[in-house]
Amino acid sequence: MENIQNVLASLPEVIADRFGQGKPAGYIPALSQVDPEKFGMAISTVDGDDFVIGDADEFFSIQSISKVFNLSLAMHYAGEDLFKRVGVEPSGNAFNSLSQLEYENGIPRNPFINAGALVVTDALLEFVKSPKRDFLDFVRGLSNNIDVHYDEEVFRSEYDNGQRNAALANYLKSFGNLDNHISRVLDFYFYQCSVSMSCRDLARAFRFLAQDGKHPYKDEQVVSKLQARRINSLMMTCGTYDEAGEFAFKVGLPCKIGVGGGIVAIIPGEMSICVWSPELGAKGNSIVGMEALKYFAQKAGRSIF
Ligand code: DON
Repeated sequence: MENIQNVLASLPEVIADRFGQGKPAGYIPALSQVDPEKFGMAISTVDGDDFVIGDADEFFSIQSISKVFNLSLAMHYAGEDLFKRVGVEPSGNAFNSLSQLEYENGIPRNPFINAGALVVTDALLEFVKSPKRDFLDFVRGLSNNIDVHYDEEVFRSEYDNGQRNAALANYLKSFGNLDNHISRVLDFYFYQCSVSMSCRDLARAFRFLAQDGKHPYKDEQVVSKLQARRINSLMMTCGTYDEAGEFAFKVGLPCKIGVGGGIVAIIPGEMSICVWSPELGAKGNSIVGMEALKYFAQKAGRSIF
């Protein structure tokens, strides 16, 4: 494999003409204020080395990338039972779609669409005493950075514009697939989405999925080896929503996107990657970020296929 830092160094030229083709997320107003020209990328290898480029140490809103932390914690506590309430199939629909829930009787297709993440959040509430603090401590531990925090402004912005998520939660409740009060579930869900951290933090935090579930900084399992494999497979098939086919085709790695413009990708057994650039395409993925990942995977000769 060509030297990782060399591949990163050649990226700015490769991605230059991709800027200006999308827009930062507009439906959460706080996210639309971010500088659209930002670009950062970080790699964390299973040997413990970091490689970074650009704005890799700048904090941004992780948004739906948090759904992997949510799922990992819930799988750790609830095990297989979780999948009685949420499926494992790609949805082929937008991440915040309402319609599928009706004809599938309140069982969300997978844990990464918003409806699925709300169910997982509800399940997790059964196991954590101080949900927000425990969640933040978990992410801080995984990234080995106590500066990781939640962004109050983004949280408020999500709450004030969260009618669609509220509709999903109400709908799930009407099918009996939420145990807790709707406002408690939404509050915890918005909190998770509002966590702010850097590419370097995220690459480090996701390393457990590249190393069979082993914690990157502690001598313990975050999830079992089998669970890590399953989370990776869910990222591959569902992590990029209705663009999962395109990501598999162009990038060929398990990925998870967020409307803050972040994308996390895993090369099992080798490394975790995080790229960030806020301009989104129509389906909510970072246009520049996807291009960077496509280039990196090809140049490094990596794909799970
Ligand atoms: O709930 C929402 O709509 C946002 N907080 C998260 C959406 C998101 O990041 C989807 N991914 N592209």
